[in-house]
Amino acid sequence: MMAFMMRLKDRVENMDCSLASDPALDWRGMAKMEVKTSLLDNMIGVGDMVLLEPLSEETFIDNLKKRFDHSEIYTYIGSVVISVNPYRSLPIYSPEKVEDYRNRNFYELSPHIFALSDEAYRSLRDQDKDQCILITGESGAGKTEASKLVMSYVAAVCGKGAEVNQVKEQLLQSNPVLEAFGNAKTVRNDNSSRFGKYMDIEFDFKGDPLGGVISNYLLEKSRVVKQPRGERNFHIFYQLLSGASEDLLHKLKLERDFSRYNYLSLDSAKVNGVDDAANFRTVRNAMQIVGFMDHEAQSVLEVIAAVLKLGNIEFKPESRVNGLDESKIKDKNELKEICELTGIDQSVLERAFSFRTVEAKQEKVSTTLNVAQAYYARDALAKNLYSRLFSWLVNRINESIKAQTKVRKKVMGVLDIYGFEIFEDNSFEQFIINYCNEKLQQIFIELTLKEEQEEYIREDIEWTHIDYFNNAIICDLIENNTNGILAMLDEECLRPGTVTDDTFLEKLNQVCATHQHFESRMSKCSRFLNDTSLPHSCFRIQHYAGKVMYQVEGFVDKNNDLLYRDLSQAMWKASHSLIKALFPEGNPAKINLKRPPTAGSQFKASVATLMKNLQTKNPNYIRCIKPNDKKAAHIFNDALVCHQIRYLGLLENVRVRRAGYAFRQAYEPCLERYKMLSKQTWPHWKGPARAGVEVLFNELEFPVEEYSFGRSKIFIRNPRTLFKLEDLRKRRLEDLATLIQKIFRGWKCRTHFLLMKKSQIVIAAWYRRYSQQKKYQQIKSSAIVIQSFIRGWKARKILRELKHKKRCQEAVTTIAAFWHGTQVRREYRKFFRANAGKKIYEFTLQRIVQKYFLEMKNKMPSLSPIDKNWPARPYLFLDSTHKELKRIFHLWRCKKYRDQFTDQRKLIYEEKLEASELFKDKKALYPSSVGQPFQGAYLEISKDPKYKKLKDAIEEKIIIAEVVNKVNRANGKCASRIFLLTNNNLLLADQKSGHIKSEVPLGDVTKVSMSSQNDGFFAVHLKEGSGAASKGDFLFSSDHLIEMATKLYRTTLSQTKQKLNIEISDEFLVQFRQDKVCVKFIQGNQKNGSVPTCKRKNNRLLEVAVP
Ligand SMILES: Nc1ncnc2c1ncn2[C@@H]1O[C@H](COP(=O)(O)OP(=O)(O)OP(=O)(O)O)[C@@H](O)[C@H]1O
Ligand SMILES: [Mg+2]
Repeated sequence: MMAFMMRLKDRVENMDCSLASDPALDWRGMAKMEVKTSLLDNMIGVGDMVLLEPLSEETFIDNLKKRFDHSEIYTYIGSVVISVNPYRSLPIYSPEKVEDYRNRNFYELSPHIFALSDEAYRSLRDQDKDQCILITGESGAGKTEASKLVMSYVAAVCGKGAEVNQVKEQLLQSNPVLEAFGNAKTVRNDNSSRFGKYMDIEFDFKGDPLGGVISNYLLEKSRVVKQPRGERNFHIFYQLLSGASEDLLHKLKLERDFSRYNYLSLDSAKVNGVDDAANFRTVRNAMQIVGFMDHEAQSVLEVIAAVLKLGNIEFKPESRVNGLDESKIKDKNELKEICELTGIDQSVLERAFSFRTVEAKQEKVSTTLNVAQAYYARDALAKNLYSRLFSWLVNRINESIKAQTKVRKKVMGVLDIYGFEIFEDNSFEQFIINYCNEKLQQIFIELTLKEEQEEYIREDIEWTHIDYFNNAIICDLIENNTNGILAMLDEECLRPGTVTDDTFLEKLNQVCATHQHFESRMSKCSRFLNDTSLPHSCFRIQHYAGKVMYQVEGFVDKNNDLLYRDLSQAMWKASHSLIKALFPEGNPAKINLKRPPTAGSQFKASVATLMKNLQTKNPNYIRCIKPNDKKAAHIFNDALVCHQIRYLGLLENVRVRRAGYAFRQAYEPCLERYKMLSKQTWPHWKGPARAGVEVLFNELEFPVEEYSFGRSKIFIRNPRTLFKLEDLRKRRLEDLATLIQKIFRGWKCRTHFLLMKKSQIVIAAWYRRYSQQKKYQQIKSSAIVIQSFIRGWKARKILRELKHKKRCQEAVTTIAAFWHGTQVRREYRKFFRANAGKKIYEFTLQRIVQKYFLEMKNKMPSLSPIDKNWPARPYLFLDSTHKELKRIFHLWRCKKYRDQFTDQRKLIYEEKLEASELFKDKKALYPSSVGQPFQGAYLEISKDPKYKKLKDAIEEKIIIAEVVNKVNRANGKCASRIFLLTNNNLLLADQKSGHIKSEVPLGDVTKVSMSSQNDGFFAVHLKEGSGAASKGDFLFSSDHLIEMATKLYRTTLSQTKQKLNIEISDEFLVQFRQDKVCVKFIQGNQKNGSVPTCKRKNNRLLEVAVP
C-alpha cells in the first residue's frame, strides 16, 4: 500500500502540477486513510433542517419522513436533535456506535443522539460549561428512552474505575425504580412517565461522575384512585402483586388477584410484552444497588399495600345526627388490616374518615363527613400517601446518589418532562404542563438567540435584527403575580365564601379579557361571544404552539389539593416510621394554621427554580416526535407529525436558527473539505486557513452577499450556496477518485505483473534444478546399473573361467584317474575272477554259434527258389539270426537261379511280371494265364504261303500274330481275324485271305477295356478322329487275352513312352461308328456252354454272358 501511495503521488505530480506543487504533501498521512467525514456525506434528505430548501411545513415533514423511512430517526436543526420514535429496536446504539461518535465533531457524522451527548459531555469536560439536555415531546415520543440513551452514552465515555462505576451504576439504576413508581400504561404509551423529571449529573474536573440530584415535577396522583379506560395504575402495584412471593404477600396482607382491589383497573391489567413479575425483581435489585436498606424497601411496599387496601374501604350512610349526614365504614376488616400494616390505632383512622376538624386560631370545629366526603377523604389520603411516597423515594435516591465531595462540580442536567399537550378535554394538569412548555420555549428562544447574537459578536459579523415570536407574553398571562391565571386561581382558592370553578372563570373573564392570547366566550371583551367552538365553561389560550381550550371544571379542587387535617394527623400517629415521616404536618406540636401552598403555586415555584437552573447552563435540545398513534414501527402519520411539529415550534426553531446565516463552519474544516475546488488550495494550502477559504470563495465567484468571513468561521447565508459547494466538491471528488482508481489499478497490475515475473523466475529456477536433479539421478542410477552389469559380467566371466579351469583340472584328474584305473585294470584284469564268467560265456557262445553254423552247412535245403524247406532253429536266442540267414539264403539262391536265365527267357519273365502287375487280383482270367508261356507268334505267317502277301506287307517285327474273334459291331456276332501287333501298328487281317482289314498306329490306341471275369473279351479304344477310328472301337475275344494285353501295353510304352490305360470293369462304353455302346458282362447260363457269348441287345447295349 505504501508503495502504491508513493506511485500515486508520482502520478498525481506528473498529471496535475497543481497537485504536486506542494512537496510537503504528506502521503504517509494519506496512507493512514484518516478521512474527515461530514454530516453532508451520504445524506438522506437533509441531515440538518437548517439546510432545507425551500423551507415549508411540507418539505419539513417530507424530509423527516424520507429519513424515517431509511431508519434515520435523528435530524438536526442546527444543534437541536429531532428524534422520531422508531417503535422498534435499531442497531444504532451498539458499543461500536458509541466509539464512532466518541470525540467526533457534532457535524462530522450523520445526526445522532450520541453526537449531541458527546458534544454536551465534551464541552462540559473540556470547556467547563455546565450543560442541560432538554428533552421534550408528546407522550410516547421517546423522551424517557432518549434520556436513558444520553445517560448510557455519557456513562460509556466518561472515566472508569471501581468507585466511578458504582456511581454510574447507581445513577442508571435510579431509572427502573422511578419508572416503577412513576410510570404507567396509558393509551398513548405503555410506559408513560406520569411525572416530570430533571436529573443533574455531577462530574469532577476530569469528567468522572460524582453523583446526581433528581427533581420531580407534578406526579399525576389522580391515577392512584382512578384510571381512564384502557389505562392502568402505576406499574408498581401490578409488579408487587405479580412478582412478590407468597410470604411477602402474606406479610403485606395482600392477595395476588388484581380484581380484589378497587384501585386497580382490570381492563388492561396485563400489558403486552411486559413481564410485571420480572420487572418487580429488577426493581428490587435496582433499589438494592441504589442503596435502599431492606427495611426501607419493605416499608415502601407496606405503604403501597396500604394504598391498595385503602381503595377497598367502602362507606355506607348512617343516620343523621344534628341534621348532618353521617357515613360509616361498611366492612371494618380492611381498615383493621391497614391499621395493622401501618401501626395506626383503628379508632383514630375510623374517626378521621368520619369527621373533619377545622381549626382556626384557638377554635376547633368538628363536622361529620357524609358518604361522598368520606370517599373524597379516602381518595385524597390514598393520593397523598402515594405522591408523598414518590417524593420520599426521589429524596431517598438523591441521598444515595448525592456526590460525596464538596469540590466544585460540573453539572449536566437531563430534563425528561412532559411535552405540550392538547387533548379534547384539557384540564388543570394540561394547563400546568403547557405552562411549563411555554417557559421552556422561552428559554430556548432566549438562549438560541442569545447564542446566535453572541456568536455574531464573537465572530465580528454585523448583527441584523431577527424577527421572531417571543412567547414571554403568554408566560406573563399565566404566571404574572398580580393578574396571571395562576395568581387568579390561587386568589379564588383562598377566598372565603363559595368558591367554584365557575367563579374562577368569571374572574378570568374579567381580569384577562383584554389579553391577546386569552379567549373566553364570556370575557368582557365581546370578541368571542359568537364563537360556538368555545363552550361557556372553558377558556382558551393561544400558546406559541397552538390554541388550547381548557375546561375549568376541577381547577379549584386540583389546585387546592386538600387533605383533611384529621387524616394527616392520623397518619402521623402511625407507628410505621415511613408513613409518619410522610405526614409531618400531622404533628400537633408543629401545627401550622397557614394553608399549604396550592398545587399551582408550588409548580410555578418549581418551574421558576428549574428555569433559573437551566439558564445558567448551556442548553442542548432533543425534540421527540411520535410518528403514529399505534405504537407501530414503519408508520409515519403526516397529520400527527405535522401537529407535533407545529406545537413543538420546530419551523420557528429553524427560522430562528437561519435568521442570519444558515450555515457556518470553522475555516480549517471548511478548507479541508473544499480545498480540492481550487488549484491554489489543492493539494495543500500553506497560509492560514482563513486566507485559503477566501482564495477559494473568490475563485468560485459566489455573490459576496452569500457569505461573510467571521473571525474563526465562514458564514454562508443560503443553503443553496452550500449545496452548490457540495455539488462542486462531489464532482471534483469523482474526478479525483477516478484518478486514484486509475493509478491504483495501474500500480496493482504492475505489482501483480512483477510478482508474477519474479515468481516465474523462481519457478523456472526451481524447475530447472528439479529437472537437472532428476536427470542426474537418472544418469547416476543408469551408471550404477551399467556398472553393476559390467561388474556382474566380469565376475561371471572370471567365475566361468575359474569354473572351467576347475572343471578342466577335475576332468584331467578324472581322466587321469580313469586312465590310471584303465591301465591298472588292464594290467590286472587277467587277475580278476569276475572276468572268468564272461569269458566262459563268450567261449560257450562262440562254440554254440560255431556248432550252429557247422550244422547248418550240413542241413542246407535245395537251391530251388520255390523250395520252402529250412532247418529248424536250434536255439531261441539265434531266432533273428536264423530268420536273417534264411532270407539271405533265399535271396542268394534266387540270384543263383536268375543268373542261369537267357535274355529271351528274361524277357518272357519280364512280360510275365508285367502281366502280374497289371492283372493279378483284378482279372479272374489271370491265374489261368500264369502257367501258359507267352509265345507271341501263334500263327506262323512266314511258314503259311496263303499269308505270303501279308508277310510281305509287313516290314516290321511282329510281336503278336494270333487269330482272334472280332465282335461284329452291328450284331455282336464274332468273326475270326488275324491280330498282328508290330512295333508301331496294330493290324487286323482276314484269316482266310490274309488281307489286311485294318491298320491302327499304336499312337491312336487310347485304352483297352475288359471285364474282371474269366472271359477273353477286350475292347481296343481308338483315338477319336484318327483314321482308324472311322468304324469305331474294336471288341475282340481271345484265349490269350492276358498276353495280348500285356504285350500291347509294353509295346505302346516303349514306342509312345506313354502308359496304355487298361480299364478292368464289368461295364464299359465302346464307340461303334457314331454310337456309344455299353458292353455289359453278366453271369451267363451254363446251358449255353462254357464259352462266353456276345449279343447286341440294342443300339446301346451289348451283353456278354460269361458262364
Ligand atoms: N430510540 C428508540 N428506539 C426504540 N424504541 C423507542 C425509542 N424511543 C422510544 N421508543 C419506544 O417508544 C416507547 C415510548 O417511549 P418513552 O417512554 O420514552 O416515551 P415518552 O416520551 O417518555 O412518553 P411519556 O411522555 O408518556 O413518558 C418506548 O417504550 C419504546 O418502546
Ligand atoms: Mg417518559
